Amino acid sequence: MNRFQTVLDGVSLVTPDLIAGSSKISDSGYLQERFIEGRAELAVLLALSEQQFQNRLPAAEIVRDLTTRLSDLRQKLPSSVWQRLTPIAREHPVSAYLLEDPLTRWSFEKPRGYSGDAQLLDFIYEHPSMSPAIEQASALGRDLYAYTKQASSSVAVRERRSILTAKVDAIASDRPGDTEILTIAAGHLREADQSQALKEGAISRWVALDQDPLSVGSVSRDFAGSRVEAINGSVRTLLSRSQQLGRFDFIYAAGLYDYLAHNVAVKLTERCLQMLKPGGQFLFANFARDIRVEGYMETFMNWALLWRSESEMWSIIGGLPNQDRFEAKVQFGENRNVLYAILQT
Ligand SMILES: C[S@@+](CC[C@H](N)C(=O)[O-])C[C@H]1O[C@@H](n2cnc3c(N)ncnc32)[C@H](O)[C@@H]1O
Repeated sequence: MNRFQTVLDGVSLVTPDLIAGSSKISDSGYLQERFIEGRAELAVLLALSEQQFQNRLPAAEIVRDLTTRLSDLRQKLPSSVWQRLTPIAREHPVSAYLLEDPLTRWSFEKPRGYSGDAQLLDFIYEHPSMSPAIEQASALGRDLYAYTKQASSSVAVRERRSILTAKVDAIASDRPGDTEILTIAAGHLREADQSQALKEGAISRWVALDQDPLSVGSVSRDFAGSRVEAINGSVRTLLSRSQQLGRFDFIYAAGLYDYLAHNVAVKLTERCLQMLKPGGQFLFANFARDIRVEGYMETFMNWALLWRSESEMWSIIGGLPNQDRFEAKVQFGENRNVLYAILQT
């Protein structure tokens, strides 16, 4: 088994290097030429941003233009060539300026050892627990953060949290007092903070599963005395049925499928359908393709994801047996940065 298969098995954590290292870079003359051309363009655009920082142009303007130029370059290059360029961008002196942004820095440094941890999401949610880190940032860092937290991907992540809260509350309003929810890759379960159904006791059991013991501990503390049960588990423990979790009215996963290879995504979806009660719903979210921030995320944030198109979402659903068991829809969030697949049994 190669490293890529090992990592995308649904239990191990995907790091950008592993995604990058997985694509075989052919040394064909054509790709070599594209690499040389891309590297030259990258050097020009990074030097321009560096000069703008030196000249103290507004931080938001610099990072917005840089994000656009990186996106244009990424779009026109073969992906194997782009992947070879991302470490080169990170080594450029301009990255010292960008890493003053606490959000970019957290993503780049990966204090929990993997990409996309729940504290990173807390920067995006502007959760009060991250305020000290933001206050300690330099003036430039705070200006950059004012931009990155408003980037389209950040807006979409906050909308995703609201969509999930609304979905939980709507499902619970059909079965007050008797609703069972399973959140896979729950992180800090921030969507539960605003849930009326949880406050009003309409939820009988809300299982929040995550592979990271620190996040599980945080959910246990934050929701002590409520119907939320934080448990340590992973895609692998779900697939191997090593935990007996029971059945649920609503199961969902946000911020997880973006790290799962197609075959694991299909298996997990099938497993989730099996854990639904009759009439239950399963939802999975995934960042969409071509959202114009991937270039910045993959370089300076070192945050590589498996971006999916609508048809790639449908192909996960299409891989399931017995299609007549459920009705499915795939839809975008408001700014089209996140896709949602909803399966109703
Ligand atoms: C981007 S965060 C999303 C957190 C939360 N769902 C949200 O939307 O705010 C991704 C979470 O997935 C968890 N995770 C990653 N791989 C996992 C796996 N194979 N099994 C279970 N959890 C996983 C991480 O520990 C992390 O808490």
